[in-house]
Amino acid sequence: MSASPGKPSVPHGSVDVFDRVESLQEAVTDAIDELLRRTVRDRGLATVALSGGSTPKRVYELLSQRDLPWSSIHWFWGDERNVRSDHGDSNQRMVRESLLSQASIPEANLHPVPTIVDSPAKAAQDYERILRERFSGDAFPHWDLVLLGTGDDAHTASLFPETAALRETHRWFVENWVEKFDAFRYTLTAPAINSGREIWFLVCGAGKRPALQQVWQGSFDPDHYPSQLIRATRWFITSDARPA
Ligand code: 6PG
Repeated sequence: MSASPGKPSVPHGSVDVFDRVESLQEAVTDAIDELLRRTVRDRGLATVALSGGSTPKRVYELLSQRDLPWSSIHWFWGDERNVRSDHGDSNQRMVRESLLSQASIPEANLHPVPTIVDSPAKAAQDYERILRERFSGDAFPHWDLVLLGTGDDAHTASLFPETAALRETHRWFVENWVEKFDAFRYTLTAPAINSGREIWFLVCGAGKRPALQQVWQGSFDPDHYPSQLIRATRWFITSDARPA
């Protein structure tokens, strides 16, 4: 796999390939379990930024069955839709229904985006304040783990092609107008993702293959392929998503 001239070699990070989505989800669950146990053992606390999407949902369900040091792990949302928390599209709701299905996580360890449908700019500022308090003193948040997916348009989190959030260099978390949805999303910015110690992508299905090919092998064009902005440490992909 060769990179374009002037680019760092891509993909950043290691790549684990699975024939079945179910095997990928089990392997990701094991890897998260191992990472969070080690982090809590070494540092007393772990912080995770969660992704929305169908692939992680099952991972959260599997994770909820594990015997993790739940009181020492704090969960944040890497992106969110501009809806109330009881809406069917809400990432908060999805995580609550899957991760909390069996685990007893203290409410104080859950840090969802406080969405305000009529005032997304305020809600984004509120969440940025919550993050800055948690990671006080850090230039950008030092997540122990950021989980991400990528779309068939190469978006990640809610960093969509040709949107303003892609050019953000100071803010940690912003509202982001996405023309094709005619709606705001909320998202961590690229620098606030790249400051994570571990940044893992979960990518499943043949439909993601052209996007992944561009992200890994295409010329650097993050305005059209936002996932190129992210310095991943690990990729979990299915074999049908793997570029030739
Ligand atoms: C979301 C996301 C989004 C997601 C990708 C991939 O809220 O939907 O965080 O960036 O990760 O769209 O989603 P799938 O895993 O469902 O393909």
